[in-house]
Amino acid sequence: MFKNISSCFIVSILFVYPLFAQTSITVNTEELSGVIDRHIFGQFSEHLGRGIYPGIWVGEDSDIPNIEGYRTDVLEALEALQIPNIRWPGGCFADDYRWKDGIGPRNERPVTLNALWGQVPEDNSFGTHEFLRFTELINAEPYISANVGSSNPKDMSDWIEYLTYDGETTLTKMRKENGKEEPWKIKFWGIGNESWGCGGNMTADFYADKYKQFATYAHNLSGNELYKIASGKYDVEYDWTDTLMSKASGLMDAISLHFYTIPTGNWDTKGPSTGFNEEEYIATIKYSLRMDEFIKGHSEIMDKYDPEKRVVLAVDEWGIWTDPLEGTNSGFLEQQNSLRDAFIASTTFDIFAKHNDRVKIANIAQTVNVLQAMVLTEDDKMIKTPTYYAFKFYTVHYDAKYFPLEFESPEYINVETSIPAIHGTASESKDGRINITLTNVDAQKGHDLILNFKELGGKSISSARILTADNVNSYNTFDDGDVVAPSGFNGASLSGNSLNITLPAKSIVVLTLH
Ligand code: AHR
Repeated sequence: MFKNISSCFIVSILFVYPLFAQTSITVNTEELSGVIDRHIFGQFSEHLGRGIYPGIWVGEDSDIPNIEGYRTDVLEALEALQIPNIRWPGGCFADDYRWKDGIGPRNERPVTLNALWGQVPEDNSFGTHEFLRFTELINAEPYISANVGSSNPKDMSDWIEYLTYDGETTLTKMRKENGKEEPWKIKFWGIGNESWGCGGNMTADFYADKYKQFATYAHNLSGNELYKIASGKYDVEYDWTDTLMSKASGLMDAISLHFYTIPTGNWDTKGPSTGFNEEEYIATIKYSLRMDEFIKGHSEIMDKYDPEKRVVLAVDEWGIWTDPLEGTNSGFLEQQNSLRDAFIASTTFDIFAKHNDRVKIANIAQTVNVLQAMVLTEDDKMIKTPTYYAFKFYTVHYDAKYFPLEFESPEYINVETSIPAIHGTASESKDGRINITLTNVDAQKGHDLILNFKELGGKSISSARILTADNVNSYNTFDDGDVVAPSGFNGASLSGNSLNITLPAKSIVVLTLH
């Protein structure tokens, strides 16, 4: 019998929350489990809302500090993020885009209508040359999405010739007159976007035929090799993948998958990007973790036609999509970005890394001022979002050898919802460093972890950083851009071949052993 109330309280606390329960994680360094392709950390910048104008491009005459017309602050932030590839010009916009409108002297370019996103004029001042110069400035590879929905194969092959052919033709003469003597090297080439929806409302059969027709004219010129990406479908819509794989897989390098996390699960009222409560929070994380199920589902279909896994699943649009911020144009898809969203990014990376045999390219939507952005701008101010820092933490895994983590996660429970609290990725970089990223999505409780390695060979902890904040719905503002920002982490220690970590509630940690 309990002698008094307080001992009764302590025992019951211990019963409900065993304070010293430690989660044991085996880091499987033995099994050859593939490589984490750096291209899974790709970005996406569409002509949508304030994404390109003025998020990236302000023009040379702007009062906002710029380099050749690109915002200096955004360039610096994105270059530091080591973005592997960036997708452009859409999205839905891609299938309504005439590439020839975006070349030549800027003051002579036509003003067209961006009918899909806010029905606003598009002055085409950011076109092919501006996009490709932007990728050079931030050291990213371009991923161009070609128009299938409202264009034709010849128009697309003209663009490829303009971009990549090193001989003398009328088109390459134009390219040179427009300031680019040497052709570009372009690898990632999307053939249509959401061709089942905004990209032409096609059936799978119709698109498969279209895809083959367009792919035939997507020529490899002057030593440039295109990596052709077919337009795939959305979450559980597996039939599309089945038809595409059965009819056209021989002509593709990848097929895409799109999946957005909608906090309420309802596209009409998606839920706010700030001020959500814990119940909404856990439901949102649970929803986003479904990425694993969708990748498995599409991969299984792909396995039927491509057991060797030659064709890649390109998750070229993903991220959280909330209600637009009050007072903004609802067609501009502007939202805030909280610590929760950093967890959506980190746990999604963990899923991609686990499926590295199929998923080798992915693009978060979108880079600046749109949906789950890396940075937000307002006039001459810019802030980095929590998602920015999640990306930064994961750069350690670029092209690294994947080490599966074997463990049973404690559950994070809120009311009737329960999800695994601990998520993570471990890898070995080419120079022998072991990098570990761990996320505790539990909003209330920290967790003690012990990571067991077979052999650590005298390595020590050479770096440890944490991203956390007061609340899962904390976010950065233009008045205080450091509400959610990384700091040093001292909750890890080595003992023999084991790494002990006290992972605080609601946090992401990145550790390097060297
Ligand atoms: O990222 C916003 C839009 O979402 C893209 O343009 C489209 O492909 C998707 O529906």
